Amino acid sequence: MITSVNDFRELVAQVGEIDEIMIDVEKAEGIYVWDTSGKRYMDMLSGICVGNIGHRNPKVIDAVKEQLDKYMHVMVYGEFVQSPQYKYMKRLKELLPESLSQIFYVNSGSEAIEGAMKAAKLFTGRSEILSCRGAYHGSTTGAVALLSQEEFTRKFRPLMPDCNKIEYNNFEDLERITERTACLIVEPIAIGQGVRLPENGWLQAVRKKCDEMGVVLIFDEIQTGFGRTGKLFAFEHFEDVYPDILCIAKGMGGGMPIGAFVGRNDIMQSLNNHHPLIGHASTFGGHPIGCVAALATLNCIIDDKLMEGVEEKGNRFRQELSHPLIKQVRGKGLFNCIDFDERLDWQEVLKACFAEGLITGTHLFNTHSLSLKPALIITDEQIEESIVRFKKAFDRF
Ligand SMILES: Cc1ncc(COP(=O)(O)O)c(C=O)c1O
Repeated sequence: MITSVNDFRELVAQVGEIDEIMIDVEKAEGIYVWDTSGKRYMDMLSGICVGNIGHRNPKVIDAVKEQLDKYMHVMVYGEFVQSPQYKYMKRLKELLPESLSQIFYVNSGSEAIEGAMKAAKLFTGRSEILSCRGAYHGSTTGAVALLSQEEFTRKFRPLMPDCNKIEYNNFEDLERITERTACLIVEPIAIGQGVRLPENGWLQAVRKKCDEMGVVLIFDEIQTGFGRTGKLFAFEHFEDVYPDILCIAKGMGGGMPIGAFVGRNDIMQSLNNHHPLIGHASTFGGHPIGCVAALATLNCIIDDKLMEGVEEKGNRFRQELSHPLIKQVRGKGLFNCIDFDERLDWQEVLKACFAEGLITGTHLFNTHSLSLKPALIITDEQIEESIVRFKKAFDRF
């Protein structure tokens, strides 16, 4: 190891808890990550849904290099015309429902959620924010108010007021969407506790209720976006379901940091009508390098038809990855989780996976469920190899 975990811990505040899985990264390519000792790992997390098209995808690298030779950051809050920003939205718009017609670029998923909540408040003139119990929408103080677990929020109080929760998949709870509500934030396929699919008709009922009450429906597709579930966005799996604002980040940039919220023109314009800077502003939002990386990523997903094999690949994991200590593998497309025996120590499970050359993690609010989200470019042979490795990891117990 070039850098010891302890040296690293001393200087860097955001660090993991388990020394054994804190690999010292040397390089990454496709679905693989190598550490400085030369050990190769299969990345089953894709940097938590960032590397949907694989690490260091050549199309992203080429686009970034080309833009680097032109310009990087030039101006802050949209004062200049920057063609990378325009070209990305022009392409994305072709792939979205017509109503999602305007984009606001930001730096991260949390910032997309923040911007979307502000737009909804300005547009409706209302204050209540609804979200689903057990969901995670980011770490900024606004997004923390969307958490439902008292143990995570207590010490940050007072939180942003008027944030209330409904139960994902609960039809009765939709009565809590009222004329007081500015917006409802939902993940079409929920992830906090391991992958959860919506009940038949639930998302349609959500859409209908939001329409009746004039509530802005915000979809958080920060993890589920960009082909992960087999469609460009997860909401496309469900008929007559679409958001008023779509929050995206992670896989958007193909490894470069960029996020955005995309919404109805009238809702998005309420940010500008309030004040061009105080509505929402982001110095690095829409950074030209991020935008060209995002365009290359989007084109790669579409042109290389990366979504075509996703459901089948996911099925292989769901059907072939079995072990007496694995309760089930569940999910949609390549957005899956491995629920394992609760008697196992989850930290030991993670160590065993890393020892077998597999990068994985547990879910934020469910430590007995492993995340299984490899790049969409994973081949059949690589799937087979990873299944063997997972079985070997569980054989260690
Ligand atoms: C569903 C979801 N929403 C929002 C976020 C926040 O994104 P970021 O970490 O880019 O701020 C995350 C991050 O993991 C997420 O999984």
